[in-house]
Amino acid sequence: MADRRTTGGAELRQEELGRQAAQILEANWQGASTVPSPALYPHQWSWDSAFIAIGLRHLSPRRAQQELETLLEAQWADGRIPHIVFNPAVPLGAYFPSPDFWRSSTAGRAVGAPEGVETSGIVQPPVHALAAWLVHESDRELSRRRRFLEHVWPRLAAWHDYLADCRGFGGAGLAAVVHPWESGMDNSPCWDEPLGRVEPAPAGSFRRADLECGDGADRPTDLDYGRYVRLAAQYRDGGYRDAGRDHPFAVEDPGFNALLALSEHALAEIATELGRDAEPHRSRARRLTAALVRLLWDEDAGLFLCRDVRTGTPVPDRSVTGLLPLVLPDLPGDIAGALVRTMTGPNFGLGKDTDLVPSYDLCGRAFDAGRYWRGPAWFNVNWLLERGLRQHGATGRADALEEAVLTAAGASGFAEYVDPRTGEARGATGFSWTAAVVVDLLARVREADGARVAAGV
Ligand code: SER
Repeated sequence: MADRRTTGGAELRQEELGRQAAQILEANWQGASTVPSPALYPHQWSWDSAFIAIGLRHLSPRRAQQELETLLEAQWADGRIPHIVFNPAVPLGAYFPSPDFWRSSTAGRAVGAPEGVETSGIVQPPVHALAAWLVHESDRELSRRRRFLEHVWPRLAAWHDYLADCRGFGGAGLAAVVHPWESGMDNSPCWDEPLGRVEPAPAGSFRRADLECGDGADRPTDLDYGRYVRLAAQYRDGGYRDAGRDHPFAVEDPGFNALLALSEHALAEIATELGRDAEPHRSRARRLTAALVRLLWDEDAGLFLCRDVRTGTPVPDRSVTGLLPLVLPDLPGDIAGALVRTMTGPNFGLGKDTDLVPSYDLCGRAFDAGRYWRGPAWFNVNWLLERGLRQHGATGRADALEEAVLTAAGASGFAEYVDPRTGEARGATGFSWTAAVVVDLLARVREADGARVAAGV
């Protein structure tokens, strides 16, 4: 939008959008955490909860704190935050893989799975310290009264240590994911080759609950699922140990590592607030950014590439994960500029072919406008890119992306993801993190408008 000042009509539209988003977050709230989608994802998911807390903080800072606290209570003794925390009241058949597949309380015992709660044994992108800091900032008084940061601090620090110590086996200072689900971008074409080496579990050996909730064309294929199941079962059967393990799938993902670096910056803020030494976190963030640039930046591709740790080679596909380092405040300016050019060029088409950044290269060999992470645009990712654009001074682009996120979310019924060219809803609707990022962006728009009015502009 050229002029972000709200007019009467736009204000009404925004009010309605905010009301709908709040309703979704209310409906999906379970009493101590929020489900991403009641039918498709009926438990608590790790990175979903971080984005949900970022939106909830504007509606109920107390709930936003609780969202993160509930997740962190399920942390394992080795520091990992599991990607799913299961609700025992939900029938086993409602989601696959269910707790009886992961068997955290037995198979995960040796590495410290918690008692009294069932979880998965893999992780998701580390957005949690960022979320905790933003939640704190939204109501500092409540946060201090509840000692929110004191409570979450040791857990967040242990989480980052887990990633550095147990997932740094690539040797260059980056954390590796050992399952496609850990990247959050499950069926990204970047995983085709490294995942292709994994023997799939036989088709009849598991039942996909996800296909009962929507269109199979929007979801990963059965072949991919067979491989996900095999990998997860092998990790489980090895007691979820990382030490000394030869992970059959191991990838250094730029988005995952950029979010870790961003969260290290947030941990530094939290440390300062708590009167602790922030420098170890700042220096870890700097090292991560330097390692990303040194190892994963690809000048010719115009973005960061994933690295297959097993072969030591870059994965040539262009995925949106390779644009996510734009969120880093200390990214060199020439690289930030190149990322913006890539985002707005033919491969991602922003502002020309697309209003939202797609999850995969529009011109790529595997582009699929509807299938999960092989092309559709996702709202949490676009929220991150909007922050990145704003941070690196591309204010006009950031404003346009902010507007596009709000428009597409409302028009799609707060879809899980959308066709990047048409905005058509894909996956579930009434999706929690889509609602949450809308609430957060609307709060920012109101704040900016308020500042303009106060300044008499
Ligand atoms: N995103 C995966 C799913 O579709 C795993 O968390 O269930």
